[in-house]
Amino acid sequence: MNRLSTQLGKLNLQNPVTVASGTFGTEYSAFYDLNILGAYVSKTITPEPKIGNPPPRLYETQAGMLNSIGLQNPGLNAFINENLPELKAQLSVPIIVSISAESTNLFAMMIRHLEATRMVDAYELNVSCPNVENEGIAFGQDPYVVMRLISELRPLTDKELIVKLSPNVTDIAKIAKAAESGGADSIALINTLFGMALDYQTGKSFIAKGICGYSGPAIKPIALANTWKVSQAVKIPILAMGGIITWQDALEFFYAGASAIALGTANFYNPKAVPDCLEGLNDFLEKHDLDLCDLIGKALIPA
Ligand SMILES: Cc1cc2nc3c(=O)[nH]c(=O)nc-3n(C[C@H](O)[C@H](O)[C@H](O)COP(=O)(O)O)c2cc1C
Repeated sequence: MNRLSTQLGKLNLQNPVTVASGTFGTEYSAFYDLNILGAYVSKTITPEPKIGNPPPRLYETQAGMLNSIGLQNPGLNAFINENLPELKAQLSVPIIVSISAESTNLFAMMIRHLEATRMVDAYELNVSCPNVENEGIAFGQDPYVVMRLISELRPLTDKELIVKLSPNVTDIAKIAKAAESGGADSIALINTLFGMALDYQTGKSFIAKGICGYSGPAIKPIALANTWKVSQAVKIPILAMGGIITWQDALEFFYAGASAIALGTANFYNPKAVPDCLEGLNDFLEKHDLDLCDLIGKALIPA
Protein backbone atom coordinates (compact mmCIF):
# COMPACT_ATOMS: atom_id res chain seq x y z
CA MET A 1 0.00 0.00 0.00
CA ASN A 2 1.39 3.37 -1.02
CA ARG A 3 0.53 5.82 1.74
CA LEU A 4 1.51 8.79 -0.40
CA SER A 5 -0.71 8.18 -3.42
CA THR A 6 -3.22 10.89 -4.19
CA GLN A 7 -5.72 11.98 -6.77
CA LEU A 8 -5.74 15.36 -8.46
CA GLY A 9 -8.97 15.29 -10.41
CA LYS A 10 -8.39 12.80 -13.24
CA LEU A 11 -4.73 12.32 -12.38
CA ASN A 12 -3.69 9.42 -10.16
CA LEU A 13 -0.39 10.49 -8.64
CA GLN A 14 2.08 8.12 -6.98
CA ASN A 15 2.70 10.89 -4.47
CA PRO A 16 1.58 14.50 -3.92
CA VAL A 17 4.90 16.26 -4.55
CA THR A 18 5.17 18.18 -7.82
CA VAL A 19 7.22 21.20 -8.88
CA ALA A 20 6.07 24.77 -9.47
CA SER A 21 6.07 26.01 -13.05
CA GLY A 22 9.16 28.02 -13.96
CA THR A 23 11.28 26.93 -11.03
CA PHE A 24 12.35 23.50 -12.19
CA GLY A 25 13.80 21.76 -15.23
CA THR A 26 15.35 18.46 -16.21
CA GLU A 27 18.75 19.76 -14.96
CA TYR A 28 17.62 18.44 -11.56
CA SER A 29 18.15 14.91 -12.88
CA ALA A 30 21.82 15.52 -11.93
CA PHE A 31 20.64 15.24 -8.30
CA TYR A 32 17.98 12.50 -8.43
CA ASP A 33 15.75 10.44 -10.72
CA LEU A 34 12.91 12.77 -11.73
CA ASN A 35 10.52 9.84 -11.83
CA ILE A 36 10.20 10.12 -8.06
CA LEU A 37 7.99 13.19 -8.66
CA GLY A 38 4.22 12.97 -8.32
CA ALA A 39 4.06 14.91 -11.60
CA TYR A 40 6.30 17.18 -13.64
CA VAL A 41 5.10 20.73 -14.39
CA SER A 42 6.70 22.59 -17.30
CA LYS A 43 7.72 26.23 -17.42
CA THR A 44 4.83 28.28 -18.85
CA ILE A 45 4.82 28.11 -22.64
CA THR A 46 3.40 30.92 -24.78
CA PRO A 47 2.34 30.83 -28.47
CA GLU A 48 5.52 32.62 -29.60
CA PRO A 49 9.04 32.49 -28.10
CA LYS A 50 9.73 35.07 -25.39
CA ILE A 51 13.15 36.36 -24.36
CA GLY A 52 11.71 37.60 -21.07
CA ASN A 53 12.48 40.76 -19.14
CA PRO A 54 15.86 42.53 -19.04
CA PRO A 55 18.23 41.72 -16.15
CA PRO A 56 18.62 42.00 -13.22
CA ARG A 57 15.59 39.80 -12.75
CA LEU A 58 16.25 37.75 -9.61
CA TYR A 59 16.85 39.11 -6.11
CA GLU A 60 16.98 37.26 -2.79
CA THR A 61 15.15 38.88 0.14
CA GLN A 62 15.29 38.02 3.88
CA ALA A 63 12.65 35.32 3.51
CA GLY A 64 12.05 34.76 -0.16
CA MET A 65 12.86 35.67 -3.70
CA LEU A 66 11.85 38.33 -6.18
CA ASN A 67 11.71 37.37 -9.83
CA SER A 68 10.95 39.12 -13.07
CA ILE A 69 11.67 36.39 -15.60
CA GLY A 70 8.81 37.56 -17.80
CA LEU A 71 7.75 34.11 -19.05
CA GLN A 72 10.97 33.52 -21.00
CA ASN A 73 10.31 30.36 -23.02
CA PRO A 74 11.04 28.83 -26.45
CA GLY A 75 7.43 29.17 -27.69
CA LEU A 76 4.86 26.52 -28.61
CA ASN A 77 6.49 25.08 -31.75
CA ALA A 78 9.93 24.56 -30.24
CA PHE A 79 8.32 23.13 -27.09
CA ILE A 80 6.29 20.63 -29.13
CA ASN A 81 9.12 19.66 -31.48
CA GLU A 82 12.04 19.58 -29.05
CA ASN A 83 11.27 19.91 -25.33
CA LEU A 84 8.11 17.81 -25.05
CA PRO A 85 9.50 14.68 -26.80
CA GLU A 86 12.60 14.92 -24.59
CA LEU A 87 10.46 15.18 -21.47
CA LYS A 88 8.32 12.25 -22.60
CA ALA A 89 11.41 10.12 -23.22
CA GLN A 90 12.82 10.89 -19.80
CA LEU A 91 9.70 10.84 -17.61
CA SER A 92 7.19 8.15 -16.76
CA VAL A 93 5.26 10.43 -14.37
CA PRO A 94 2.41 12.66 -15.61
CA ILE A 95 3.51 15.72 -17.56
CA ILE A 96 1.55 18.86 -16.77
CA VAL A 97 2.11 21.55 -19.39
CA SER A 98 1.68 25.13 -18.22
CA ILE A 99 0.38 27.46 -20.90
CA SER A 100 -0.43 31.13 -21.18
CA ALA A 101 -1.69 33.39 -23.94
CA GLU A 102 -3.08 36.86 -24.44
CA SER A 103 -6.47 35.81 -25.81
CA THR A 104 -8.96 32.96 -25.55
CA ASN A 105 -8.33 32.02 -29.18
CA LEU A 106 -4.60 31.72 -28.59
CA PHE A 107 -5.15 29.57 -25.48
CA ALA A 108 -7.43 27.38 -27.62
CA MET A 109 -4.89 27.17 -30.44
CA MET A 110 -2.21 26.02 -27.97
CA ILE A 111 -4.43 23.28 -26.54
CA ARG A 112 -5.34 22.04 -30.04
CA HIS A 113 -1.68 21.73 -31.03
CA LEU A 114 -0.67 20.14 -27.73
CA GLU A 115 -3.57 17.65 -27.91
CA ALA A 116 -2.32 16.52 -31.30
CA THR A 117 0.99 15.41 -29.74
CA ARG A 118 -0.76 12.97 -27.35
CA MET A 119 2.09 13.61 -24.93
CA VAL A 120 0.34 15.87 -22.42
CA ASP A 121 -1.35 14.50 -19.30
CA ALA A 122 -2.74 17.79 -17.99
CA TYR A 123 -2.82 21.50 -18.71
CA GLU A 124 -2.08 24.14 -16.13
CA LEU A 125 -3.59 27.41 -17.34
CA ASN A 126 -1.54 30.34 -16.13
CA VAL A 127 -4.17 33.09 -16.11
CA SER A 128 -1.91 35.77 -14.65
CA CYS A 129 -1.02 37.19 -18.07
CA PRO A 130 -2.63 40.29 -19.66
CA ASN A 131 -5.78 39.66 -21.71
CA VAL A 132 -5.76 41.78 -24.88
CA GLU A 133 -9.55 41.25 -25.21
CA ASN A 134 -10.07 42.96 -21.86
CA GLU A 135 -7.87 46.09 -21.83
CA GLY A 136 -4.80 44.07 -20.89
CA ILE A 137 -6.24 43.18 -17.47
CA ALA A 138 -5.00 39.72 -16.43
CA PHE A 139 -7.54 36.94 -17.11
CA GLY A 140 -7.29 35.78 -13.53
CA GLN A 141 -8.47 39.11 -12.09
CA ASP A 142 -12.09 38.75 -13.20
CA PRO A 143 -14.36 35.81 -12.28
CA TYR A 144 -16.55 36.20 -15.37
CA VAL A 145 -13.54 36.23 -17.72
CA VAL A 146 -12.12 33.13 -16.00
CA MET A 147 -15.43 31.28 -16.31
CA ARG A 148 -15.73 32.20 -20.01
CA LEU A 149 -12.13 31.20 -20.75
CA ILE A 150 -12.46 27.78 -19.11
CA SER A 151 -15.83 27.05 -20.70
CA GLU A 152 -14.34 27.82 -24.14
CA LEU A 153 -11.35 25.55 -23.52
CA ARG A 154 -13.19 22.71 -21.78
CA PRO A 155 -14.57 21.07 -24.95
CA LEU A 156 -11.09 20.95 -26.50
CA THR A 157 -9.66 18.29 -24.20
CA ASP A 158 -10.60 15.43 -21.87
CA LYS A 159 -7.32 15.93 -20.06
CA GLU A 160 -7.07 17.47 -16.61
CA LEU A 161 -7.57 21.24 -16.81
CA ILE A 162 -5.90 22.93 -13.88
CA VAL A 163 -6.42 26.65 -13.45
CA LYS A 164 -3.55 28.41 -11.69
CA LEU A 165 -4.71 31.41 -9.72
CA SER A 166 -3.01 34.62 -8.76
CA PRO A 167 -3.21 35.81 -5.15
CA ASN A 168 -3.19 39.42 -6.38
CA VAL A 169 -6.99 39.67 -6.31
CA THR A 170 -9.59 40.82 -3.79
CA ASP A 171 -11.29 37.44 -3.38
CA ILE A 172 -9.48 34.36 -4.68
CA ALA A 173 -12.40 32.09 -3.69
CA LYS A 174 -14.66 33.89 -6.16
CA ILE A 175 -12.17 33.29 -8.97
CA ALA A 176 -11.81 29.63 -7.96
CA LYS A 177 -15.60 29.18 -8.03
CA ALA A 178 -15.73 30.77 -11.48
CA ALA A 179 -13.05 28.34 -12.71
CA GLU A 180 -15.02 25.43 -11.26
CA SER A 181 -18.26 26.54 -12.89
CA GLY A 182 -16.46 26.95 -16.24
CA GLY A 183 -15.46 23.27 -16.06
CA ALA A 184 -11.99 23.25 -14.48
CA ASP A 185 -10.93 19.91 -12.98
CA SER A 186 -8.67 21.41 -10.34
CA ILE A 187 -7.18 24.62 -9.01
CA ALA A 188 -3.49 25.42 -8.59
CA LEU A 189 -2.62 28.22 -6.20
CA ILE A 190 -0.83 30.51 -5.56
CA ASN A 191 1.20 32.25 -8.23
CA THR A 192 3.64 34.91 -6.97
CA LEU A 193 2.54 38.01 -5.07
CA PHE A 194 3.59 41.46 -6.23
CA GLY A 195 6.91 42.52 -4.69
CA MET A 196 9.69 45.07 -5.04
CA ALA A 197 13.09 45.85 -3.49
CA LEU A 198 15.08 49.08 -3.56
CA ASP A 199 18.66 49.91 -2.59
CA TYR A 200 18.19 52.13 0.48
CA GLN A 201 21.26 54.21 -0.37
CA THR A 202 20.37 55.09 -3.93
CA GLY A 203 16.68 54.24 -4.28
CA LYS A 204 17.53 52.07 -7.29
CA SER A 205 15.42 48.96 -7.86
CA PHE A 206 17.27 45.65 -7.54
CA ILE A 207 15.01 44.32 -10.32
CA ALA A 208 15.17 46.07 -13.69
CA LYS A 209 11.39 46.29 -14.08
CA GLY A 210 10.66 47.38 -10.50
CA ILE A 211 7.51 45.51 -9.48
CA CYS A 212 7.94 41.76 -9.85
CA GLY A 213 6.88 38.40 -8.38
CA TYR A 214 7.50 37.46 -4.73
CA SER A 215 7.83 33.81 -3.67
CA GLY A 216 9.39 31.62 -0.99
CA PRO A 217 8.96 31.14 2.78
CA ALA A 218 7.60 34.66 3.38
CA ILE A 219 4.46 33.91 1.37
CA LYS A 220 3.65 30.57 3.03
CA PRO A 221 1.03 31.86 5.50
CA ILE A 222 -0.70 33.71 2.66
CA ALA A 223 -0.67 30.64 0.41
CA LEU A 224 -1.95 28.49 3.28
CA ALA A 225 -4.83 30.87 4.02
CA ASN A 226 -5.74 30.95 0.33
CA THR A 227 -5.64 27.15 0.15
CA TRP A 228 -8.00 26.86 3.11
CA LYS A 229 -10.30 29.57 1.78
CA VAL A 230 -10.54 28.01 -1.69
CA SER A 231 -10.95 24.48 -0.29
CA GLN A 232 -14.03 25.73 1.58
CA ALA A 233 -15.43 27.33 -1.59
CA VAL A 234 -15.04 24.63 -4.28
CA LYS A 235 -15.42 20.83 -4.61
CA ILE A 236 -12.59 20.34 -7.12
CA PRO A 237 -9.12 19.43 -5.78
CA ILE A 238 -6.27 21.85 -5.09
CA LEU A 239 -2.61 21.74 -6.10
CA ALA A 240 -1.11 24.11 -3.55
CA MET A 241 2.14 26.04 -3.60
CA GLY A 242 3.69 29.13 -2.11
CA GLY A 243 6.61 29.00 0.31
CA ILE A 244 6.62 25.24 0.81
CA ILE A 245 10.22 24.36 1.67
CA THR A 246 10.04 21.28 3.92
CA TRP A 247 7.83 18.22 4.46
CA GLN A 248 6.42 19.90 7.55
CA ASP A 249 5.30 22.85 5.39
CA ALA A 250 3.74 20.40 2.95
CA LEU A 251 1.71 18.75 5.73
CA GLU A 252 0.19 22.11 6.68
CA PHE A 253 -1.11 22.45 3.13
CA PHE A 254 -2.68 18.98 3.15
CA TYR A 255 -4.53 19.81 6.38
CA ALA A 256 -5.66 23.05 4.70
CA GLY A 257 -7.23 21.05 1.87
CA ALA A 258 -4.55 20.50 -0.79
CA SER A 259 -4.58 17.13 -2.59
CA ALA A 260 -1.06 17.73 -3.95
CA ILE A 261 1.62 20.38 -3.50
CA ALA A 262 4.37 21.95 -5.59
CA LEU A 263 7.86 22.99 -4.55
CA GLY A 264 9.07 26.15 -6.26
CA THR A 265 11.58 28.47 -4.62
CA ALA A 266 12.54 25.51 -2.38
CA ASN A 267 14.45 24.03 -5.33
CA PHE A 268 16.71 27.09 -5.34
CA TYR A 269 17.54 26.67 -1.62
CA ASN A 270 17.98 22.94 -1.77
CA PRO A 271 18.30 21.03 -5.06
CA LYS A 272 17.16 17.90 -3.20
CA ALA A 273 14.04 19.57 -1.82
CA VAL A 274 11.77 17.04 -3.60
CA PRO A 275 13.42 13.83 -2.31
CA ASP A 276 13.82 15.38 1.16
CA CYS A 277 10.13 16.30 1.23
CA LEU A 278 9.06 12.84 0.06
CA GLU A 279 11.21 11.09 2.65
CA GLY A 280 9.89 13.28 5.47
CA LEU A 281 6.26 12.79 4.43
CA ASN A 282 6.68 9.04 4.11
CA ASP A 283 8.34 8.74 7.53
CA PHE A 284 5.62 10.86 9.14
CA LEU A 285 2.82 8.79 7.64
CA GLU A 286 4.54 5.50 8.58
CA LYS A 287 5.17 6.68 12.12
CA HIS A 288 1.53 7.65 12.62
CA ASP A 289 0.15 4.77 10.54
CA LEU A 290 -1.73 7.18 8.28
CA ASP A 291 -2.43 7.54 4.56
CA LEU A 292 -2.07 10.96 3.00
CA CYS A 293 -5.79 11.07 2.18
CA ASP A 294 -6.58 10.81 5.92
CA LEU A 295 -5.10 14.29 6.39
CA ILE A 296 -6.49 16.24 3.44
CA GLY A 297 -8.78 19.04 4.60
CA LYS A 298 -8.50 18.02 8.26
CA ALA A 299 -7.32 21.39 9.60
CA LEU A 300 -8.61 22.00 13.11
CA ILE A 301 -9.85 25.55 13.31
CA PRO A 302 -11.41 26.18 16.72
CA ALA A 303 -14.27 28.56 15.87
C1 LIG B 1 11.93 32.13 -11.00
C2 LIG B 1 10.47 31.86 -11.04
C3 LIG B 1 9.83 31.66 -12.26
C4 LIG B 1 8.46 31.40 -12.30
N1 LIG B 1 7.85 31.16 -13.51
C5 LIG B 1 6.54 30.82 -13.54
C6 LIG B 1 5.92 30.45 -14.76
O1 LIG B 1 6.54 30.41 -15.82
N2 LIG B 1 4.60 30.13 -14.72
C7 LIG B 1 3.87 30.11 -13.56
O2 LIG B 1 2.67 29.78 -13.59
N3 LIG B 1 4.45 30.43 -12.38
C8 LIG B 1 5.75 30.77 -12.35
N4 LIG B 1 6.34 31.06 -11.16
C9 LIG B 1 5.54 30.97 -9.91
C10 LIG B 1 5.72 29.60 -9.24
O3 LIG B 1 5.29 28.56 -10.09
C11 LIG B 1 4.94 29.54 -7.91
O4 LIG B 1 3.57 29.69 -8.16
C12 LIG B 1 5.38 30.63 -6.93
O5 LIG B 1 6.78 30.82 -6.99
C13 LIG B 1 5.00 30.29 -5.48
O6 LIG B 1 5.61 29.10 -5.05
P1 LIG B 1 7.03 29.07 -4.25
O7 LIG B 1 6.92 30.09 -3.12
O8 LIG B 1 7.14 27.66 -3.75
O9 LIG B 1 8.09 29.43 -5.21
C14 LIG B 1 7.70 31.35 -11.09
C15 LIG B 1 8.36 31.55 -9.87
C16 LIG B 1 9.72 31.80 -9.82
C17 LIG B 1 10.38 31.99 -8.48
